[in-house]
Amino acid sequence: MAQLLSAKRIVLGLTGGIACYKSAELTRRLQDQGASVQVVMTDAACSFITPTTMQALSGQHVYRETLDATMDNSMAHINLSREADAILIAPCSADFIAKLAHGLADDLLSTLCLARGNCPLIIAPAMNREMWAHPATQRNIKTLLADGVAVWGPGDGEQACGEIGSGRMLDVPELIEEAISFFTPKVLNGVNILMTAGPTEEAIDPIRVISNRSSGKTGYAIAEAAQRAGAKVTLISGPTALTQPYAVDILPVRSARQMHQAVMSQARHHDIFISVAAVADWYIKNSSDRKIKKTEGGGFPTLEFAPNPDILAEVAAMENGPWPIGFAAETDNLFEYAEAKRQRKKLPLIVGNLAQEVMDKDTTRFVLFADSGVTEMPSAEKTAAASALIQEISRRYHSR
Ligand code: C5P
Repeated sequence: MAQLLSAKRIVLGLTGGIACYKSAELTRRLQDQGASVQVVMTDAACSFITPTTMQALSGQHVYRETLDATMDNSMAHINLSREADAILIAPCSADFIAKLAHGLADDLLSTLCLARGNCPLIIAPAMNREMWAHPATQRNIKTLLADGVAVWGPGDGEQACGEIGSGRMLDVPELIEEAISFFTPKVLNGVNILMTAGPTEEAIDPIRVISNRSSGKTGYAIAEAAQRAGAKVTLISGPTALTQPYAVDILPVRSARQMHQAVMSQARHHDIFISVAAVADWYIKNSSDRKIKKTEGGGFPTLEFAPNPDILAEVAAMENGPWPIGFAAETDNLFEYAEAKRQRKKLPLIVGNLAQEVMDKDTTRFVLFADSGVTEMPSAEKTAAASALIQEISRRYHSR
């Protein structure tokens, strides 16, 4: 698995809240991404999860006392943040938010936050919806935001107390996405990106379709990478079995003609268009509204095909349209076919790959074709390849 938090040192602070149960899993998933996790707990947090659990999972001593004798200079409140890339307090209680807002320092965690210097501080609030909505908490959050503290969440939904509303801590996958985003350079800040991904389906009848073998993995990975790099991403997706990328607007479609309509209604509002979808070349002109029945003794329906609109070529031909990027999946002659496609559709950039190397796989190898020449990128997991591609796209877009 590509590690997107490689070598990041995170101080994970736990304060009192039932959401402490998520912090155990969070520790593991941060480590999966290559981060090291140093846990600090308040006394209240220890009522919800034990330091022993957190020590076993993090593989490091858990700090609780302001004057911790296990450190040579007994100054955990200074040392911990000096060695960290970020302090993440998850869960962060209403009480702890109030403490941070007022600069209180009456335990190790609050003291180390006050003494953190340039080390970024992030909080993931977790509390009852009334506590979150209370003007005092909202005032304190405003103060923290003004102080440069990052606030992740809270999420909406069912709470431990049985009430429903805003205040629950984000779930672990969401926190991991926020963490990866946090450490990703914002090379596409303020850029609006429109994308297509996945296959399209062309109906034969209400039950049967003609489609292709695109999983959507490459397109979804690129959408995630662009979002992490600061872009606002709208993804028009054909049917896939993938989970929705975090913080990306998804417009689901089925057929190429639906995808065409969705793209054309969005294109004007975007700066870049990345066309990753494997769009069916034809639709079935004589598709049936009812299931076509098998006839006794054989006989087959005759399907009449008609060409689908070329969405990418149409966007590329728009006056003042978004900067268009195409994809070309080929089984052979990649260099010749991809460049020919780029010329035909009048694209500044096309990304080629060999279908047999990428289909149903978690790795990919991109070859970029542009006026300036051909760039071969190394084979990598789709997430890592997508991040590298987004760097390239950003560089080329900003110097176009
Ligand atoms: O024309 P061809 O399918 O070979 O070109 C591939 C590129 O064109 C991809 O970027 C694909 O998303 C886009 N495309 C499209 N509409 C079509 C066919 C392909 O946008 N009808």
